[in-house]
Amino acid sequence: MNTEKKTILVTGGMGYIGSHTTVALIEQGFDVVIVDNLSNSSSFILERIQQISGVLPKFYQVDCCDKAALEKVFIQENSIVASIHFAALKAVGESVEKPMLYYKNNLVSLMNIIELQLQYEIPKLVFSSSCTVYGEPDFLPVTEKSEIKPATSPYGNTKQIGEEIILDISRNSPLQAIALRYFNPVGAHASALIGELPNGTPNNLVPYITQTAIGKQPYLRVFGNDYNTPDGTCIRDYIHVVDVAAAHVAALNRLLIIPERPQFEFFNIGTGNGNTVLEVIHAFENATGVKLPYQIYPRRDGDIEKVYANTDLSNNVLGWKSNLNIEQMMASAWAWEQKLSTIK
Ligand code: NAD
Ligand code: WQD
Repeated sequence: MNTEKKTILVTGGMGYIGSHTTVALIEQGFDVVIVDNLSNSSSFILERIQQISGVLPKFYQVDCCDKAALEKVFIQENSIVASIHFAALKAVGESVEKPMLYYKNNLVSLMNIIELQLQYEIPKLVFSSSCTVYGEPDFLPVTEKSEIKPATSPYGNTKQIGEEIILDISRNSPLQAIALRYFNPVGAHASALIGELPNGTPNNLVPYITQTAIGKQPYLRVFGNDYNTPDGTCIRDYIHVVDVAAAHVAALNRLLIIPERPQFEFFNIGTGNGNTVLEVIHAFENATGVKLPYQIYPRRDGDIEKVYANTDLSNNVLGWKSNLNIEQMMASAWAWEQKLSTIK
């Protein structure tokens, strides 16, 4: 029997979703090699991964846009069987201000990875995509067949173009890929040793909630309460990051084990449930017992009114399903914020 462990290259593995996925992969018996330039993460995450999993993954501080440096990883790590490409910049507002930075970072890194994977004959790739490709959907819940709407930010466009690059290359080469379109990943690992590390003032709802609860922000601004939703606030499909991590293990196993597959597939990674902003606030209060001060503000430019996933395809084809509910998401995000305040 071949007992050798399979090695997975995880770009962006020091980041929020990448670190949780690294833990999940190690727990499922994979070896992990992380490539990350630490542009949006910290080196202490590596020891945290070891604390949780008992394994210190190999780490290369390399920019995926530096093809020569990235190639060295492929040369040195000759047992890699597939990659998960998380490495990307993800701040929507910043992408509007610095489109060149986003197009270069997100697309050059993707093309370098694909090119090296093909060159080294390791053609299996899992790609981080986003529900942002659906824009403001015409029908809910969105399925993988829903229309892809024109991107409203350079960041969103890098995800759409990224999927197109993969599609075109997979039609003409041995590339086999799965794109996971995450909805709104939130929460943290149950150990509270890893979680989201927002850079400066958070833009996203849940880190803003936890920073408000701990006193780093005076109150939460709720952006708009006049939307066409039950309480007037926007609806999203929040999904626990631990569930998102598990989806990557499922996608990888599909690539590695199932021979008859389309060369490029994409799956929605959400719970299938939509929650309003006010529901999220109340879930946080229920889960933690902490009262959250908030004020209603005008709508935020560019916000989608409501979006949530149809998860039939990921449930039935990928064999993956979310397990954790909104209270568990809030409780874990809060535990992480509290732990973070003791080390920062
Ligand atoms: P993150 O910023 O926490 O992690 C990304 C990691 O990639 C960071 O550690 C960063 O240092 C690294 N990185 C960035 N550019 C790099 C480069 N050129 N070379 C090497 N490393 C680089 O973000 P995340 O939330 O973990 O997101 C992971 C992926 O999922 C991204 O592709 C993101 O666009 C996508 N995504 C995230 C969300 C979300 O809400 N968090 C939703 C949908 C899709
Ligand atoms: C959620 C809801 C806000 C902050 C972003 C990216 C998207 C994808 C997921 C990567 C909205 C409201 C927020 C606050 C608030 N990422 N809100 N007060 O906008 O769904 O999506 O992350 O691919 O591309 O755009 O997430 O967490 O910013 O907002 O009321 O201080 O919370 O208006 O309704 P969003 P979010």
